[in-house]
Amino acid sequence: MTTFWSTWICVLTIGSLIGLTWLLVGTRKGETKGSVDQTMGHSFDGIEEYDNPLPQWWFMLFAGTLVFSVGYLILYPGLGNWKGILPGYENGWTGVHEWEKEMAKADAKFGPIFAKFSAMSVEEVAKDPQALKMGGRLFASNCSVCHGSDAKGAFGFPNLADSSWRWGGSADTIKATIMGGRVAAMPAWGDALGETGVKNVAAYVRHSLAGLPLPADNDADLQAGQQTFSTTCAACHGPAGQGLEIMGAPNLTKPAAFIYGTSLAQLQQTIRHGRQGHMPAQSELLGADKVQLLAAYVYSLSQGASAKPAQAQAKNE
Ligand code: HEC
Ligand code: HEC
Repeated sequence: MTTFWSTWICVLTIGSLIGLTWLLVGTRKGETKGSVDQTMGHSFDGIEEYDNPLPQWWFMLFAGTLVFSVGYLILYPGLGNWKGILPGYENGWTGVHEWEKEMAKADAKFGPIFAKFSAMSVEEVAKDPQALKMGGRLFASNCSVCHGSDAKGAFGFPNLADSSWRWGGSADTIKATIMGGRVAAMPAWGDALGETGVKNVAAYVRHSLAGLPLPADNDADLQAGQQTFSTTCAACHGPAGQGLEIMGAPNLTKPAAFIYGTSLAQLQQTIRHGRQGHMPAQSELLGADKVQLLAAYVYSLSQGASAKPAQAQAKNE
C-alpha cells in the first residue's frame, strides 16, 4: 500500500474512533442528573418522547467496542501499513503464518513416517498396510480426477489397476512416471497416408492386432494395412504391435488397454490426427516422499489380490 492510502486509512479510522468517543461522552454529559421521565417537550397526537439517559449496559457495550477496536488495531494489522505488535503478521493478513505453523506440525508428525518409507524400496513399501492406506488417500485426492477413484482409468486416461503398462510396470518405472510425468507423442498420419491409407491401417490394427471383428461391409485392404504398419508404425509399436515402453507406445494387441477407443472411427481418428497423452509430473507438486507412497500404491494395484483390501479400505474412509 502506498503511504498516501495508508495515511488515508489511518486518518479515517482514527478520526472515526475519536468521533465516536466524542459522541458517546458528549451525549452523556448532556444528561440531566437525577431527572427521570423528562420529556423532550414535543407531542405528536399525544405521543411524547422521553429524554432518558442511555441505558448503562448500552453505554458500557459501546465503550467496550471502542476499547476493543483500539486494542485490536495495536495488536493486529488493520491500520494502513501498521503490522501490529504481535509476531507473525509481517506479511499482513495472508494466512501464510497459520499455514506454515500447520505445515511444521504436519512435518513433525509425518516426517519420520515418510523418512522410513523413503528409505525402503517401492516393492517393500507396497507390502506395508499403513503405506498403502496413505498412498490410497493421496491417490484419491491427487490422481482420481483423471484416473478414476478405482484407478481404472477413463477415455484418454490409462487404467492403473491392470497389468498393461504404456511406460512400464516395474515399481521403479512407475515411480519415475509419477515423479517426472510423461508426454506421449503419437504422430498424425492423415496427410502422409491419405484417407484410404488411414482406413486400411485402422482396420489392420482392429482386426489383425487387437483381434476384434470388422463390420461385414468393411472394404479395407488388410494387406495394405499390414504393409503400412510395418513401414510406418512398427518403429514405435513394434513389428507385432506389442508396444515399446521407452516411447510410451501402447501394445496394440490388447484392446482392453486402448485409452482412445477401439471402434474403427476412433482408431481412424487417432491415426489421422495423432494423440498426445500428458501425465503431469508430480515431483514439484507432491515431492519425492509422497510419490514414493503413491508409486507403492499404484504398484500394489497391479499385483493382484494382496492390494485389494487396502484399496477398499482407502475408499471406505
Ligand atoms: C491431469 C490428468 C492426470 C492426473 C491428475 C494424473 N494423471 Fe497419471 N496419467 C495421465 C495420462 C493422460 C496418462 C497417460 C499418458 C500417456 O498417454 O502415455 C497418465 C499415465 C500415468 C501412468 C503410466 C501408466 C502406464 O500405462 O504406463 C501412471 C503410473 C500414472 N499416470 C500415475 C498417476 C498418479 C499416481 C497420479 C497422481 C499423483 C496421476 N497419475 C495423476 C493423466 C493424469
Ligand atoms: C513415433 C512413434 C509412433 C509411431 C510412428 C506411431 N505411433 Fe501410434 N502411438 C504412439 C504413442 C506414443 C501412442 C500413445 C499416445 C497417447 O498415449 O496419447 C500411440 C498411440 C496409438 C494408438 C492409440 C492406442 C490407445 O491407447 O487408444 C493407436 C491406435 C496407434 N498409436 C496406432 C498407430 C498406427 C496405426 C501407426 C502407424 C500409422 C502408429 N500408431 C505410429 C507412438 C507412435
